[in-house]
Parts: sequence; structure tokens; C-alpha cells
Amino acid sequence: MCGIVGAVSARNIVPILVQGLQRLEYRGYDSCGVAVHQDGGLRRARSTARVAELQMQVDAEHLVAGTGIAHTRWATHGAPAVANAHPHFSPGPIAASDAPGRIALVHNGIIENYEELRAELQAKGFTFTSQTDTEVIAHLVAHLYQGDLFEAVQQAVSRLKGAYAIAVFCRDEPHRVVGARAGSPLVLGVGNGETFLASDAMALAGVTDRIVYLEEGDVVDVQMGKHWIVGRQADGSLRPVDRTVRIVQAHSGAAELGPYRHYMQKEIFEQPKAIADTLDAVAGISPELFGDGAYSAFKNIDQVLILACGTSYYAGCAARYWLEGIAGVPTNVEIASEYRYRDSVPNPRTLVVTITQSGETADTLAALKHARALGMQTTLTVCNVATSAMVRECRFAYLTRAGVEVGVASTKAFTTQLVGLFLLALALAQVRGRLTDAQEAAHLKALRHLPTAVAAVLALEPQIVAWSQAFASKENALFLGRGLHYPVALEGALKLKEISYIHAEAYPAGELKHGPLALVTSSMPVVTIAPNDQLLEKLKSNMQEVRARGGELYVFADADTRIESGPGEHVIRMPEHYGALSPILHVVPLQLLAYHTAVARGTDVDKPRNLAKSVTVE
Ligand code: M6R
Repeated sequence: MCGIVGAVSARNIVPILVQGLQRLEYRGYDSCGVAVHQDGGLRRARSTARVAELQMQVDAEHLVAGTGIAHTRWATHGAPAVANAHPHFSPGPIAASDAPGRIALVHNGIIENYEELRAELQAKGFTFTSQTDTEVIAHLVAHLYQGDLFEAVQQAVSRLKGAYAIAVFCRDEPHRVVGARAGSPLVLGVGNGETFLASDAMALAGVTDRIVYLEEGDVVDVQMGKHWIVGRQADGSLRPVDRTVRIVQAHSGAAELGPYRHYMQKEIFEQPKAIADTLDAVAGISPELFGDGAYSAFKNIDQVLILACGTSYYAGCAARYWLEGIAGVPTNVEIASEYRYRDSVPNPRTLVVTITQSGETADTLAALKHARALGMQTTLTVCNVATSAMVRECRFAYLTRAGVEVGVASTKAFTTQLVGLFLLALALAQVRGRLTDAQEAAHLKALRHLPTAVAAVLALEPQIVAWSQAFASKENALFLGRGLHYPVALEGALKLKEISYIHAEAYPAGELKHGPLALVTSSMPVVTIAPNDQLLEKLKSNMQEVRARGGELYVFADADTRIESGPGEHVIRMPEHYGALSPILHVVPLQLLAYHTAVARGTDVDKPRNLAKSVTVE
């Protein structure tokens, strides 16, 4: 999703801006651009292709400067087009639209009152050249500018409603960039005699490791080797504030593809290591795995509320079975974007658990804030990015060690989230006296064997490739699971739809007869997750319902299920049954099925259309 980089230095910062965009590229974007202060004016290059193409433009145009800003855009207001790509220029109120700009600005987020501001600025003589909400901010700053950009931006942001992180510079102040944030992340990078801005510390990896995480409402004046920050006070005014400079070892975002064709395939195959790494520091079950003070916090809660989106939400749905079944803690799982907009009944003795790969998902962060505002202060995140906003916001954290996940379709993040959530269920069970030493030892043994068990499932790839040839020509598919494996079916359907663009739905198998059975014909593949658990015989009856209507079953069946291949029934045998941890094994063939089907259909597997890796707008 959208990314920002900005810099003020005595050296040429254009390579830093473009490399910063490259580091943010994997998050997904549909246009990009860079603007610099050069030869006394503003110059820019914008592209609806990749950052590599932007680089060619930058070279061709000989952009060289010490001050500039850059952006990757994921379209919200206005199509992905060069005119809508950032940076946006404002030449001031009377100049023609092709006049050289006076203000250059990039923006992440959504301005909710942009229509009202647009009308106001048009009435003052400003000409709009894009359909974006962002252009109003550029014109607003130009309108308010009276020789001090820092001052103009402070006034401008007080007029904005919605979410923003912005970086802006002015033709008349060649060594200054001003940034501001509310609702979208922005960091300041402190260099030696030079200063940077970015939406994520990762964009500055290799440039500086001294990072200031700007807080909600901050406006920052960035100059060569100096910065000043004003922070929003309770009365709404802006006053000078000190913010801590932290040393952050942000990963570079770079990941080698190695022998794999796509990052998604690589990440699927990295799961044994990702799980082993996630378990690395776990010597035994203890609440302190989640942070100091977790024992007493866990003692004082009597329910769990899980907040997450997408794949992370499905991890939460699976975890509910463990939290209620093993720990005996009543658990609600809420889609983050829905939770904050409905009236719910808060209980201060709730453990609020957010699940997020990126730690930057705007909906999940907003849901967390909402839960806190309702009086639920005991917060914990299961997150893959140690430096993320979510880890900073939550009192406790379990950091998954999946490593950088580049593919938009989440794979290793999901299985490592499940590991973290299973540990949470065990820790809560322990605190509540529901975990004997023998049970703890058995669970730990199963967890430690997981990497080997997942590796055995990955060896099924050739059989799954064969199935994917049949799926590639389909436009619809159903996924069935029961109990703990219903969330796995949901995740399998999401994987297939997001990268192959095949319409896929998941149902708890017992629900078939209540509606979706009407969809079943011989052209409808029905993927069935068949673990050897207590619901197996019920599931087999549901499978018969499909067969009786001519539906084509594709079954991932555990050993000893006595489910055999036959007419209209294709079976891949899972190597072993894995009890409570079975979802971690059963999701893997679904990831591979989605991947190979997408490859067969020729889609952009790692960057599926319309989607972004890190969803930082509401
Ligand atoms: O970074 P998060 O885990 O918070 O992201 C949540 C979802 O946006 C994410 O899981 C999304 O659904 C993935 N594309 C699924 O593959």
C-alpha cells in the first residue's frame, strides 16, 4: 500500500528516495513518483509502472538534488493514472495547471472532508489536475503558505479530517521538508548531517538506524541534520515536544528468491524454518513468553477478544477453538473493520488480542484503540514485525519469526500466528490450572515436531500440481471443513480467490444443505478438509451429499480415514494426523493448490490485482 520517503541532505538523495520506494514495493502499489528541489524549482517523475521504470525516468531526466520526496500509491480516490500519482504540485491559486509547482506533497491515508476543501479551494482560484483527495492538501498548504512551510503545514492539518501521513516541500525553502501524521504511520530518520522521513523504518534500512516514531498529531520540520517536532495537545494546540530516538534494526525488505519461481512459493516452503524459529525461545509454557507481568494480567482476565483482518482473522477463528477448548476462556473473534463501528458490551476483564502480520493494518490498529477506549486495557498482539505500530501499542506481544513475507498472499505468517496462538491457549490454560505437566510436555513435543511434519506435507506438491491443472479452468470452487478446520477452509478459499481470481467460498460442511448445496454441479470442485477427528463421520455424510449431486470432491484426508479415490472423488493422503495442531498441516496443501492454480492461470501471484501487502488505510 502507499509508501513515503523524504530526505534533506547535502548529498544527492535521489538514489535514497528510489531505493526507499523499492524497499516498500512489495507492499503493493499501482503508481509511483518522486519530486525534488533542483535548479531553483520543483521537478518530478511519475509512473504507473514499476519503481524500476521510475528509475529510468529519473535517470533520463537527470534528477539530482539534496531535498526531495517520493511515493508509492495504492489508488483510493481516482484510478491508477499518472495524473493521480504523487507527488502532487500546487502552483498557487492563479497559475495555469502546467506552471511549475510551488508546493510538492505526498500523502498516505484518506482525507474524508476533501470534497468540501476542494470546493473551497476552487472558489479561491485553485485548479485541480487530479481526482485525488491528496491534491487538496497540496493546494491548502500553498494557500496558507506565507514564507514558513512548517507554519503552513501546521495550519493545514488542523483543517483535515481523516487519516494522513504527509511529506511536503516548497520551492522557496530548498533545504526543508515538513512531515505530519494522524492515523497513518510516519517515522523520522536521523542521519549524520542529514534527515529523512518515511512511512516505515524499513525504507531507510542501510541509510540510518536512528529512528523517531512520530506520534498521533505530530508535525515535524526536517532540515539538514536538524529537526523540530510539535505534538498535538489535549486542547488541540500544537506545542514543541521531544520524541525518543531509537536504534532500529529494520530489515531491508530485500529477500532473495533463490530457486523459487515466486515469493509465495518460497514462503510456503519456508514454513518449517519459520515455525522452528518462532518456537526457538520456547523452553516451556509460561505466560512470560508474552512479556513481563503477563502472569498477573492473565490471572485477571475472564475472556478473550480477538481483533484481526483477512488471514489473520482466520488464525483468530482457529485459535478460538483452542482458547475455549484447552484454556476454557470464553473467546470472541471480531473482524477489526466491523468491530469498531458496532455497539458492543465491553468487559474490562478482557484480554484483547490483535493478530497481524504487518503490525500496521489500519483497521486492526483502529479496533485496538476502540477496545481501549471502551476500557479494555489488557492488550496483546501476535505480530511478525517487531518494529511495528501494533507492537508499540500493545502491552504484551508474541513475535512470530516468519521473516519478511513478500507475497501479498499470507502463508508463513498464518502458520506461525497459529503457533503463537496455540502457545497463548496453553499459557492461559496453565494460569487457570488446566494444564498438567504431562499435557504440557505432550503439547511441546507436538509443537517441536511440527517443522518435520510440515516438511512431509510440502512433499505432496507434485500431486497438488496435478490437481491445479483441473482447477485452472474453473471459475467457482467450494471449500468444506468442520470444527477447527472450518477456519482452514476459509483460509484456503481466500488464498484461491486472491491470487487465482477464482470465486471460492468456504462453508462448515454441515451448512451445505442449508443453501450452498444448490450450487453443486459436476463443474463445481469441492475441496474438503478431512482430518481424522471426532467429526469425521459427520463430514463423510456431507461428502455423500455432494457426490449425490454430481459434485467433484478434492479431499485432503488424514491416514486412517478410509476415504479413497473413486469416480468424482480425488484424494490426497496427508502424512499424519496431528490432533489439535492439525490446522497448521492442513492449510499447507491449500496454499499450494492456490499457488499452482494461479501459476497455471498466469496471474501475478506475488502482487495480485487490486491488493496490497500492508493495508494502511481504512
Ligand atoms: O498484516 P495483517 O496480518 O494485519 O494483514 C491482514 C490482511 O490484510 C491480510 O491477512 C490479507 O488478508 C492477506 N492478503 C491474505 O493473504
